[in-house]
Amino acid sequence: MPKDKFLKLIEGQRKTRGSKKFAGVFLDYLELVSQNPDIAKLSHKRLYDVIVSHGVDEIDDSDPRKYKIFEGDPVKVYDYFSDEFFGMERVISNLMRFLRSASLRGEESRQVLLLMGPVGAGKSALTEHIKASLEGESFFHLAGDPQQGEPLHLIPRSLRNKFEKMLGIKVDGDISPVARFKLLDELGGKYEIFPVVESTFSQRARRGIASVPPMDANSQDVSVLIGSEDISKLDKYPEDDPRILSLNGAFNVGNRGIVELIEVFKNEIEFLHTVITATQEKRIPSPGKHDMIFFDGVIIAHCNEAEWNRFRSEHTNEAILDRIVKINVPYVLEINQEVKIYRKQIKKSDFQSHIAPHTLEVASMFSVMSRLAKSQKCDIVTKMKIYNGDDVIEKGRVKKIDIKDLREESRDEGMSGISTRFIMKALDSALSDSEKNMITPNSVLESLIRQVKDHVIDEEDRDRYLELLQKIIREEYLKILENEIAKAFIAAYEEQAQSLFDSYLDNAECYTNRTTVKDRVTKEDREPDELFMKSIEECIGIVGSSTDGFRSDVTAYMFAKMRRGEKINFTSYGPLREAIETYLITSVKDIARIVTRSKSRDSDQKKKYSEMIQTLMDDYGYNEDSAEEVLTFAANNLWRDS
Ligand SMILES: Nc1ncnc2c1ncn2[C@@H]1O[C@H](COP(=O)(O)OP(=O)(O)OP(=O)(O)O)[C@@H](O)[C@H]1O
Ligand SMILES: [Mg+2]
Repeated sequence: MPKDKFLKLIEGQRKTRGSKKFAGVFLDYLELVSQNPDIAKLSHKRLYDVIVSHGVDEIDDSDPRKYKIFEGDPVKVYDYFSDEFFGMERVISNLMRFLRSASLRGEESRQVLLLMGPVGAGKSALTEHIKASLEGESFFHLAGDPQQGEPLHLIPRSLRNKFEKMLGIKVDGDISPVARFKLLDELGGKYEIFPVVESTFSQRARRGIASVPPMDANSQDVSVLIGSEDISKLDKYPEDDPRILSLNGAFNVGNRGIVELIEVFKNEIEFLHTVITATQEKRIPSPGKHDMIFFDGVIIAHCNEAEWNRFRSEHTNEAILDRIVKINVPYVLEINQEVKIYRKQIKKSDFQSHIAPHTLEVASMFSVMSRLAKSQKCDIVTKMKIYNGDDVIEKGRVKKIDIKDLREESRDEGMSGISTRFIMKALDSALSDSEKNMITPNSVLESLIRQVKDHVIDEEDRDRYLELLQKIIREEYLKILENEIAKAFIAAYEEQAQSLFDSYLDNAECYTNRTTVKDRVTKEDREPDELFMKSIEECIGIVGSSTDGFRSDVTAYMFAKMRRGEKINFTSYGPLREAIETYLITSVKDIARIVTRSKSRDSDQKKKYSEMIQTLMDDYGYNEDSAEEVLTFAANNLWRDS
């Protein structure tokens, strides 16, 4: 590509970026605020507004999840999260409720938000996404202030009341020592000419978004949070001169926006005290000999349950606990949503292989069931289905078990079990083992079994997981497969089903009326074909003396329909339909068995077999290899001795 194409792109972007930004002095800013007080809002409200600006909907009445999963609650769905996070609606609405009340300057605005949940439940991903919502949003701040402070803090205390009335907003907080020095030293105290700039939030540029990784006790130093004194400048300036301050700690950087504390309880308690002061007093200590510095930001921390329990059990931590709003981030317990997580992860990776139907479903069954507690009311598969919003049919009836009752039985569900990462690893290793560049339910089950054997140390867990994989999920998968194959071939063979039906009806009619059948092809009269009729009837267990009754019932039923002018086809009479479908499936089984097992197969069988493969490919999302695998698997496991 020629160079000038790149240059054009670069310059074009620079132009649009540079042009719109505001730069002026405080007086100009005041005018802006009086026109639009919203630009001076505090961090919680800014974050809340930006997320809401992407759109919010209440979960629709027509969405089956509303009643089956959320028990009819009017759950809100925030568009900003809905493409990335699945099955986390409750977590997200708790989070948004927190931000909303914090944005009204309630007590929540002085609390740390803590996301607590098991490994791989999405705490980090959620926090990243929240931080990203601010990225590129613009805000106004004092020029040259390392804390990018709110310009309104320039207004002296004595005038605050008047300004607040004129602008219609409340002003809390003071400028940083660095800004104060600039005001006094360079501008002679004339705050109306203090330069104000417009910037955008950027984590990489350390503007308004900061992240603090956990630190070990030795290297732990609050300067990570509040900045430090630049010792090299100490011989140039006096000790209390703000020019020696490097306000580059997380709370300086994250002022106006977000400070994230990763695995927060791994830090020393002193460290946490600084955090608490920042949130409770909205002030942070300054390095060296300066007054506390104002801070306004959303503090989001995360940790896992073990860390939380350890921390909570310490009596001395009570004061800190009181300043934390904890939101649980459990694992997803809905298979359909869990599948979406893996689909998303795979889409983001360079995984470009074929994923056979039901592969992610089977993996998700495993992770979900590993997370479920035993119920007194039903078995684990039933529970999994109810949690997924599926109807569980037993003996022709929908089983009546209330999701609410199941949930009440075990309140802490979702805080343990197999993590999303464990599954992703198994998917990856199934792929790298595959010679055909694909993953299938079988290869993933195998890879999960291997991984459980290698990595799950707790014996009880290991046994439970192996039972899930080797027995329970395997059986579920076989059922799914059996249904799918039946559906696929009955649809594909509709024509055949219809001609079987016509033929059966001709024969049954003549048999019942004791006449002969006119052959549709040769036009010759012949006796009713008993063998043929029997082969159909056997499929639904009609044998011996009951065949006569069945044949006359079918004939009477069909002719009554025809007399009424109704159209008839192979689905018209339930029992016959079932018989024909079963007959077709049996021939599918036979062909699959013959072709996948024995070396001797005639060309007709081969042709039929490749038609089956084609049907699975065209309508069900298999490729040739996975369709072959699945038919072989079915032939070996489903149709063994039938
Ligand atoms: N409900 C979900 N929706 C979408 N993605 C999810 C969900 N749960 C987990 N994930 C994905 O799983 C991966 C692991 O999650 P993440 O790293 O955020 O977990 P974590 O809770 O921070 O775990 P840890 O305690 O180990 O740090 C991420 O890529 C995340 O996007
Ligand atoms: Mg994490």
